[in-house]
Amino acid sequence: MGLLLPLALCALATSYSAAFPAQQTTKNLFPFLSRGCNDSDVLSFAGFALEDINKDRKDGYILSLNRVNDVREQRQDDEPGGSLFYLTLDVLETSSHVLSRKSWKDCEGWPFYATVYGQCKALFYMNRPRRVLYTVAYNCTLRPVSRRSIQRTCPDCPGSIYLDGSNDKILNVATESLAKYNKESTSKQYSLVEITRASNWWAGGPAYSVEYLIKETPQPCTKSMDSTCALQSPDPAPVGICQGSLIESLGKKTVKVNCDFFEPQDAAAEGEKAAKLPKVQDPGHKEAEAKRGPKGTVQKLPDLDHERPEQSQDPSPVEEFPVHLDLTTDPEGQALDVSFLFIGPLEEKLLVLPFPSKEQRSAECPGPARDANHLVLPP
Ligand SMILES: *[C@@H]1O[C@H](CO)[C@@H](O)[C@H](O)[C@H]1NC(C)=O
Ligand SMILES: *[C@@H]1O[C@H](CO)[C@@H](O)[C@H](O)[C@H]1NC(C)=O
Repeated sequence: MGLLLPLALCALATSYSAAFPAQQTTKNLFPFLSRGCNDSDVLSFAGFALEDINKDRKDGYILSLNRVNDVREQRQDDEPGGSLFYLTLDVLETSSHVLSRKSWKDCEGWPFYATVYGQCKALFYMNRPRRVLYTVAYNCTLRPVSRRSIQRTCPDCPGSIYLDGSNDKILNVATESLAKYNKESTSKQYSLVEITRASNWWAGGPAYSVEYLIKETPQPCTKSMDSTCALQSPDPAPVGICQGSLIESLGKKTVKVNCDFFEPQDAAAEGEKAAKLPKVQDPGHKEAEAKRGPKGTVQKLPDLDHERPEQSQDPSPVEEFPVHLDLTTDPEGQALDVSFLFIGPLEEKLLVLPFPSKEQRSAECPGPARDANHLVLPP
């Protein structure tokens, strides 16, 4: 990976200048260049942006790229070779939690009845001569696939349960299955952090499946273990994720549980960063980034059946995947300081414009989808 990437970038740089010879933009009159959603470099930027988005997140599941829905390029006149890409990405949730820190390319999706899908908008800055690939900001909206549509084709399939606040049954399944895990564990004990997913179905009786994050339960300090005791932080980070299930049929209750543990985070994150950015970087970069805080949010809404009850005659269209990413509303644009991306004392600014609207979609868009099932493609 460490070796391959710079090579890939070089190849991109060559094909790029060949494909777009001195194409001029009339500043602000027509600020955006149209790009193909199936272009190999657009696909690779979309892939990088999604890695950044996943890395930036603290909760939820890793998102994978289903297709590039739209892309606009805005050349940065003051910075030769620099471009800002306005990406609209159709994404699918994978079954790996973001805390596993995997690449989305290594993650598997959910079965079709459990699919969660949606759309992200991202601003991605690329400066080839100076070897910068940087996700400036993002926002995403997700929904589970329509339960009504699933039931039409697969009435026995499990259905997702929307997690909004308290659901005693779900909490119960989590605590019971974790108790079972702890009972069988010979060393450490774990406690529940957060329920991340839940579904139910009928299996001769009600059946539930729940996924939840766990942390180590602090051990009471004893004299013989002072040293480990002192190391325990008061609020430990999640260390793994468990799948628990509970089936009640014919008066018999079956509880199952399986837990996976995350790799120690710092090591994994550092390894990836080193692989992705083999070139020198301003050591101040990380602090500057950390100060900026998260670059976006991923909101999860209930499935579309909620918005359109079956009996409803209400013809007013709902915005199915509302995603807003406007760093500015000024049509002239706004300068964004990105000096921290570069080495040296120079001040570097990007001109950011309002995100182009759907009506201004590029001609060769959307691109081909990995999963072309219309149930998992945002309109
Ligand atoms: C991202 O979305 C959230 C709400 O979902 C919104 O409050 C925020 O302003 C959006 N960010 C940008 C940069 O538009
Ligand atoms: C997308 O690009 C790939 C490789 O360049 C090509 O094989 C494929 O046919 C293209 N798909 C569409 C729908 O244009």
